[in-house]
Amino acid sequence: MERTFVMIKPDGVRKGLIGPILTRFEQKGFKLQEMKLMRIERDKAEQHYQEHREKAFFGELVSFLTSGQVCAMVWEGPNAVAAARLLIGHTNPANAAPGTIRGDFALEVAENIIHGSDSAESADREMELFFGTDAKPGIPSFDVDELD
Ligand code: TYD
Ligand code: MG
Repeated sequence: MERTFVMIKPDGVRKGLIGPILTRFEQKGFKLQEMKLMRIERDKAEQHYQEHREKAFFGELVSFLTSGQVCAMVWEGPNAVAAARLLIGHTNPANAAPGTIRGDFALEVAENIIHGSDSAESADREMELFFGTDAKPGIPSFDVDELD
């Protein structure tokens, strides 16, 4: 089993796509492990996209990510990183196949609805950034029965 970090970006939240996107991941068979609707600070957005720091689009990318709520998630399944990228589709929605999330819901690269980790290493780093130790497998969740 593998875990991957997925985030619905502000355009996806604004377009009301949280439900349809959750449905696609659930129908595919992924298991939802963590989910949080949140606003992110500039610093977190910059850390999240650190590999693009030198790119011309970096400033706009960070501004866009902080422009509204995002829905951060951790999904688990076999080959979750690669399988999630297939569901998400090509980075540029103009080249994304119909049937993929970006192929069905977006037109432009700057507003392409959703993020998915590109490797197991990125997934670990991004899950830590957004969920800390909560996203680590094998840590039993707190059970209210233990209060008795
Ligand atoms: P990247 O990591 O290359 O794509 P992906 O999200 O598929 O892993 O790029 C990160 C985000 O940066 C991408 O989702 C949208 C944005 N972006 C642009 O705005 N312009 C560009 O030319 C590229 C390549 C990406
Ligand atoms: Mg990427």
